[in-house]
Amino acid sequence: MKIALLGLGTVGQGVVEVINENKESIAKRAGQPIEIKYILDIRSFEGEAISKLVIKDFDIIANDKEIAIVVEAMGGIEPAYTYAKTSLLKGKSYITSNKELVALHGAELLEIARSNKVNFLFEASVGGGIPIIRPLNQSLTADEIFEITGILNGTTNFILTKMQQEGKAFEDVLKEAQALGYAEKNPEADVEGYDACRKIAILSSLAFGEHVSFQDIPTEGITKITTEDMVYADNMGYVIKLLATCQKQDASIFARVSPMLIAKSHPLAMVSDVFNGIFVKGNVIGDVMFYGRGAGKLPTASAMVADIVDAAKHTGTNIISFWNKEKIELKDKEQVKVKYFIRLKKHSERMDDIIKEVFNEIEEVPSLQGEYAFITNVDTEANFTEKMSELSDLVILNKIRIDK
Ligand code: HSE
Repeated sequence: MKIALLGLGTVGQGVVEVINENKESIAKRAGQPIEIKYILDIRSFEGEAISKLVIKDFDIIANDKEIAIVVEAMGGIEPAYTYAKTSLLKGKSYITSNKELVALHGAELLEIARSNKVNFLFEASVGGGIPIIRPLNQSLTADEIFEITGILNGTTNFILTKMQQEGKAFEDVLKEAQALGYAEKNPEADVEGYDACRKIAILSSLAFGEHVSFQDIPTEGITKITTEDMVYADNMGYVIKLLATCQKQDASIFARVSPMLIAKSHPLAMVSDVFNGIFVKGNVIGDVMFYGRGAGKLPTASAMVADIVDAAKHTGTNIISFWNKEKIELKDKEQVKVKYFIRLKKHSERMDDIIKEVFNEIEEVPSLQGEYAFITNVDTEANFTEKMSELSDLVILNKIRIDK
């Protein structure tokens, strides 16, 4: 079976490596040998063995009837969206690690794949090497899923882990993550939570069967987290993680991406470095947790090559996924119940009274010098914002949600 690879960056190179390294076992599992016929890239890779496969014109791939599978590791919406649509309409399966593309156009591309009896597969778009898309589509189908919560971004988990365990500064650790090939081209996508947001949008759309728009998901990143926050977290028996969640609450669905304080005994607290961990809660199965490397060349390539094998095995048939175009209206974020850890600058000996006047009951936290820190009761986000506005004369150093 002949395939074409779009993009020879870190992940693309990983795909070539995995296909060469495990040629024989892959051929056995796919039922036939898998051969890369073309690689589309703007660079030529002169002097490298691979250079004879490199082309610059996508039309050669689109019009070559021998190409059964197109594998994209470029990222970004365009030209990936045009390439995906063209490939599927021409009867070629399309495999991608591109979460922006899947989050925005997943429902449409799945529909086109279905009509053309080919497959649009995107295991590598969420959780790097962790199988999570296939389990949601094929293994957990007896359950009504009511919650998915996870650490879905390797770069930020790597940064938070190093800040917490080694007291390193944010910027230094980010550079390390970039050098290791974990971070996005524009690392804002990682540290501002946009990457995790697209990934939870994909998982919730698959879990609930209708389209969850990533633009509707309230998203906060980790750029405001400091080493002082890490010290408080440690003293209180917590760690700070960037959590992405979607939950069925009553009749509605709520989703959010934000840093959270979670107890050290929480299973996701053990998920360190570039690893991702994903909890899926179903009404029959209970809790299931998925764990593995969430970013990096070979783990991501492993998921993409597994999709190639799946597409090869399902030549001529479409593997059904439940994700239709109808959009889910998410629950108003202001009505969601939250509990916060708050750090203020101490400017009076009466801090206790001032805070209790506004928040009534609080849990005071042993504070760093010159600070006053406390934990609120559970309340709605709207009530919390209103109470915080009454403290507008005080200097708020940080506020982080706590897992209730
Ligand atoms: N930048 C992403 C991450 C890559 O750090 O998780 C994998 O999607």
